[in-house]
Amino acid sequence: MNKNDPPNKTQDATRAITAGRSSVDHHGVVNTPVYHASTILHPNVESFEQRHDPGNRRRVIYGLLGTPTSFDLEEAIAQLEGGHDALVVSSGLAAVNIALLSFLRPGDHVLVADSVYAWTRTFCDQKLADLNIGVEYYDPLIGGAIETLIKPNTRVIFLESPGSYTFEVQDIPAITRVAQKHKVTTILDNTWATPLFFKPFDHGVDVSVHAVTKYLSGHSDVMMGAIVASEAAWADIYRTHKLFGQCVGPDDAYATLRAIRTLPTRLRAHEHQGIALANWLAGRDEVAEVLHPALPGDPGHALWRRDFLGASGLFSIVLAPRSRQAILDMVNGLSLFGIGASWGGYESLLIPVYPNQYRTATSWHRAGQTLRIHAGLESLDDLIADLEAGFARLNA
Ligand SMILES: Cc1ncc(COP(=O)(O)O)c(C=O)c1O
Repeated sequence: MNKNDPPNKTQDATRAITAGRSSVDHHGVVNTPVYHASTILHPNVESFEQRHDPGNRRRVIYGLLGTPTSFDLEEAIAQLEGGHDALVVSSGLAAVNIALLSFLRPGDHVLVADSVYAWTRTFCDQKLADLNIGVEYYDPLIGGAIETLIKPNTRVIFLESPGSYTFEVQDIPAITRVAQKHKVTTILDNTWATPLFFKPFDHGVDVSVHAVTKYLSGHSDVMMGAIVASEAAWADIYRTHKLFGQCVGPDDAYATLRAIRTLPTRLRAHEHQGIALANWLAGRDEVAEVLHPALPGDPGHALWRRDFLGASGLFSIVLAPRSRQAILDMVNGLSLFGIGASWGGYESLLIPVYPNQYRTATSWHRAGQTLRIHAGLESLDDLIADLEAGFARLNA
């Protein structure tokens, strides 16, 4: 399917198995055990007084600052993505917010893609505005022309590619080239691609954020975020993360580290299911448009092919115009596609989304309802049969 398939598969598949298994000796146990900890006892006063030695950030000195379980998880995520280092936080939204606040001060200006995840936008509109930080949304397809929007006080460009709900692919290298020229920090929400299918640091991105809640944990039972930084951006991220008192539960860190071992395999399966469903849907009269960058007809396909190493299982379709009741009959009657927002688990999902409600820099009008689909790991034939029955209800 994909030009980079064989080499990427080999290297990342191996890295997903080996990364983050080295922090301490666990008596030969394969998975890093769950360390529940707040207080850490020191053998003597000298050791206690030297506990903040900056030379070793993975020293176990207080539960808040990390345990062997969370340190191994951070190392695995950083290695998979190719960043200098990583930190885990309580949710994907916390990763977004802490990354932004690591670089922004009152009076600064931030450029945010108009297609970002809705709560990223709410944080910018409410909290950054309270802090007198100017928020300006830009067309996600702007590419290198983002230079025209840079002001003397622009500190950060925030990207998300493909965009939430609408899946526009951004020209990330063109944007990071402009950012580097103007000494502006770039932060990318890389949740859709995961550290496997887009390598932000090879494309000039400074900071990558993830909703670990999605594919990285992968089983719809963990809330977590991660921030991965280049060496140059690391000090600001590390300092701010500490100030926000962020840590994750050890059971969640364990579950996520275990899930990462199968991430390459799971993600290829989601990719395969997603592309197969998208192709099937593209052939249906009920579907006006399929928004999936891996389909050759998609406007973002050329950029996706150039920069990405694969496609995850999340995409949207736009239906031909139908009554609300017909759409409710279709969606409420599905048996395999769940009606749920948080994707990246093994199960399929299908929800109505309303992209135009969030936009300000661009408009996104479509005559029919947009539906966002997460392709899970059920049998493809069963998923298609479920959708086929749904279309029969839509048409009834
Ligand atoms: C692209 C993207 N980024 C960030 C988040 C936020 O993650 P969380 O739900 O873990 O806060 C989400 C959640 O849906 C998302 O889809």
